[in-house]
Amino acid sequence: METTIRKVLVPHFGDESVLQIIEATVASPQVGEVQVQVLHSVVAGSDVNMRRGLYPFQKKAPLTPGYSMIGRALANGPGCKKFAPGTLVACLTIYGSQAERMNVPEKFVSPVPEGLDLRQATALILDWMTAYEMLEHSAHVKRGQRIFVHGLSGAVGTALLHLAHLRGAEVFGTASVSKHAELSAADAVVFDYRQKDWIQQMQRLGGVDSVFDPLGYQSFDESYSILRKGGLLVGYGQNLPALSNGPRPSPLPMILKLFARNLAFWSGKRTTFFGLFRGSKHFAPDLACLFRMLGEGRIRVPIKAVFPLADVQEAHRTYARGSGVGSIILDVA
Ligand SMILES: NC(=O)c1ccc[n+]([C@@H]2O[C@H](COP(=O)([O-])OP(=O)(O)OC[C@H]3O[C@@H](n4cnc5c(N)ncnc54)[C@H](OP(=O)(O)O)[C@@H]3O)[C@@H](O)[C@H]2O)c1
Repeated sequence: METTIRKVLVPHFGDESVLQIIEATVASPQVGEVQVQVLHSVVAGSDVNMRRGLYPFQKKAPLTPGYSMIGRALANGPGCKKFAPGTLVACLTIYGSQAERMNVPEKFVSPVPEGLDLRQATALILDWMTAYEMLEHSAHVKRGQRIFVHGLSGAVGTALLHLAHLRGAEVFGTASVSKHAELSAADAVVFDYRQKDWIQQMQRLGGVDSVFDPLGYQSFDESYSILRKGGLLVGYGQNLPALSNGPRPSPLPMILKLFARNLAFWSGKRTTFFGLFRGSKHFAPDLACLFRMLGEGRIRVPIKAVFPLADVQEAHRTYARGSGVGSIILDVA
């Protein structure tokens, strides 16, 4: 049986004005799928870059964006019985969750405890999971360590700040000047990314235990230069061209440049790349842990703005303006 829904469409790559709300149909869930009524989705850097055709290895247009969502299970396809209709669920969808309903593979669906702030919970699935897994599994950040975060005011950067503080680390990083007061109030030592004085200042302090760098190729030398012996550079994107309206770069030179640093083993410094992978053995337990932390009030997720599905163009414009701190949520239902 097919159901008629509304969803966002990127018919071809371009600026915010290409985004459309269209009527479409969703078929009944197939083998291994759950049909979900989407309540909230995100407008993340990944969604914006997909609209522009700049996301690495992305689908061609036309496409429906929506990297993550929270919703209620509606129906199970053959072979699925984990989520009874009505159960609150979450999924790192990658595509397609800026739609009233979607079918998702049951193996990538996680339960969501009732009673959470669902907008904050939605932001956990991509932005905070990325931060949590980098701190926990890549850098193993511990009490007393010092970390440096490029883009502390971004959705992932803010999550790194709060989660690293919970682990007892000292947090340094960059943001635009208009956001320094808010970030300083959250106990970050913050620099303007337009100046490069942070490099000398961090070196003078003796370097940091880990750097989290979503900017990519150009910034890796600077990030590497502020590592102390034994320190780790975690690359997790190549966002600088998109931030400065540059052309889409190939990810290969970035990855090669990052990992080539490991040949200098005598330096005592290491590099790695992080990619959030919904099929990893860590994904479900880590997400459950973040939901628990939200429920216990140990974390509070800043939400920059909330828009109804129909205002998706305005949500993307708000993203481009870069004002405020935190995640942008799309109310779908
Ligand atoms: N590898 C993974 O699994 C994974 C997962 C999630 C996200 N990501 C990537 O992580 C990156 C960040 O995502 P996000 O959602 O946190 O982005 P975001 O919310 O848009 O944040 C962007 C950050 O970059 C800063 N910025 C802007 N222009 C800059 C410049 N010229 N130099 C240095 N910093 C600049 C911004 O500072 P101001 O706002 O203060 O100007 C802001 O802090 C994206 O590339 C995304 O694709 C990767």
